[in-house]
Amino acid sequence: MRALNRVARAMLPRPWIPAARQLAVRAGLVRDQPLRYPFWETLHHYPSPRPHYRWGTLCAAFLARQLGYPRISVIEFGVAGGDGLLALEAVAAEAAAAAGIAIHVYGFDSGTGLTKPQDYRDLPQLWAEGDYKMDVARLKSRLKTAQLVLGPVAQTVPQFLAGGPAPIGFVVFDLDLYSSTMDAFGIFRAADEALLPRVTCYFDDIIGYSHSDFNGERLAIADFNRANEMRKISQIYGLRHALRLDQWWTDMMYMFHAFQHPRYQDFDGTNPWREIPLSG
Ligand SMILES: C[S@@+](CC[C@H](N)C(=O)[O-])C[C@H]1O[C@@H](n2cnc3c(N)ncnc32)[C@H](O)[C@@H]1O
Repeated sequence: MRALNRVARAMLPRPWIPAARQLAVRAGLVRDQPLRYPFWETLHHYPSPRPHYRWGTLCAAFLARQLGYPRISVIEFGVAGGDGLLALEAVAAEAAAAAGIAIHVYGFDSGTGLTKPQDYRDLPQLWAEGDYKMDVARLKSRLKTAQLVLGPVAQTVPQFLAGGPAPIGFVVFDLDLYSSTMDAFGIFRAADEALLPRVTCYFDDIIGYSHSDFNGERLAIADFNRANEMRKISQIYGLRHALRLDQWWTDMMYMFHAFQHPRYQDFDGTNPWREIPLSG
């Protein structure tokens, strides 16, 4: 199988590799990848254009399967043109098939671009009102299953939660602004039924020139954590070592913890080392 992988990677353009893999699985040439945390084989053997979206969705699907949830939601906050939402839709189909669960995909966006930066916390040196407008009709014509939730997140998040979504398992935060991210964190005020006990998160705007602990998404995370005693957002430390991947996104994956969620303490199967026998 490794030899076939090497040949495929040498001969095919990267975006074709997942489809070629599916054909090879169907033809019986290779075995399908088991859904095994931390999905090292999947990421290494079958690279994809948005590995961070894929890894987050696989984590959510794995946790749902382990805990017996039949369906979950995954969300992109900040859609712009829609490449990210299309990628999320594709990886959700892959993860849903692998885990044997249903995954509902949502993209939240104003549709009209960034809201007006309020103060220094929104990094107005980088962004202005109206940046990253969406061509709504064009994107809708390309989406297969994902749903667009249009409007300011301050309004759409409470409406979405009132509709009783499937438990949320993975969230991409890419709204750029501190103020918008704080509004989007309304998603983590949801009732326990609307959340997996741990939600994998990706924060797009936390590294690079002029991002800091005191503005943008990092400040929003700190303020959320200060305001909430038993619900916290924390970085997943050491991911690049666990995945043996020297890629930037491994520093940008976080986890939301709902410590008082009724399923928080259930064993989740992500620790494969249950014995440490004496060596020699
Ligand atoms: C950088 S873009 C998203 C890019 C996209 N995730 C991608 O990977 O292609 C940021 C988006 O956040 C949206 N946005 C920012 N603040 C918002 C708010 N308060 N409510 C709704 N959408 C917002 C803007 O409309 C913009 O399209």
